[in-house]
Amino acid sequence: MSATARKTAPLPDDIRAMKGGTPIVSLTAYTTPMAQLMDAHCDFVLVGDSVGMVLHGLPSTLGVTMEMMILHGQAVRRGLRSAMMVVDMPFGSYEESPEQAFRNAARIMAETGAGAVKLEGGTGMADTIGFLTARGIPVMAHIGLTPQSINTLGGYRVQGRGEAGDGLVRDARAVAEAGAFAVVLEKVPEALADRITETVAIPTIGIGASAGCDGQVLVVDDMLGLFTAFKAKFVKRYAHLGDDAETAIATYATEVRARLFPAAEHVFADTPPGRG
Ligand code: KIV
Repeated sequence: MSATARKTAPLPDDIRAMKGGTPIVSLTAYTTPMAQLMDAHCDFVLVGDSVGMVLHGLPSTLGVTMEMMILHGQAVRRGLRSAMMVVDMPFGSYEESPEQAFRNAARIMAETGAGAVKLEGGTGMADTIGFLTARGIPVMAHIGLTPQSINTLGGYRVQGRGEAGDGLVRDARAVAEAGAFAVVLEKVPEALADRITETVAIPTIGIGASAGCDGQVLVVDDMLGLFTAFKAKFVKRYAHLGDDAETAIATYATEVRARLFPAAEHVFADTPPGRG
């Protein structure tokens, strides 16, 4: 069913069932108004830990906390009616043990109303994914470039080129077999993304991957041109709202200094119009 025709949010199993069909549409959101704008158009909305860089000015996602994810998850939830919400588990909230992951994932689900959580990692996270899904927590996996691991990956480079591709296929298989209902593939070669999509039985959600993936996700501030600190090759800017906002702010500043704002229509008379 298309996102526009849907009255209630899909469940993780509905997203899983979209494998091989019409591509799954997703964007990140961090606030209620943005969630409201995308609700009718997206199958799921991701409250990504990219919020740290995009809204809080952090240099990476490593400083993002549970409290930030919960606060933004609650805000996004209030803006959604027909799209499912997935909330990222922040760095340090799940890697220590399956029990730690369960405690924090359960808190995210209970306090935000998320339909699922997302966590980064492949074979190394398979046990944790199995532990969570066996206890009622739907998990979206995330492999390829996993930004929470930039310090061990050596930066934001393309993952899985050449022989390393086999490792990513193993990762995808492992998270699917562990019970993940979908897997994000970030910044991997197109042919590898297509191979993984053909190999696993769960939907692949590409970001810097391939149009052949079962779905796509982008950071909303990137695709709207609101986040302009840098632009990854895989980002398409569908609008330039950052430029528009700066022009508007500059015009406002000029008009205030020239006493052109507020104008007659923005100020109040001593007596209400139509009286005396
Ligand atoms: O945090 C995020 O926004 C993400 C997407 C880029 C997949 O994980």
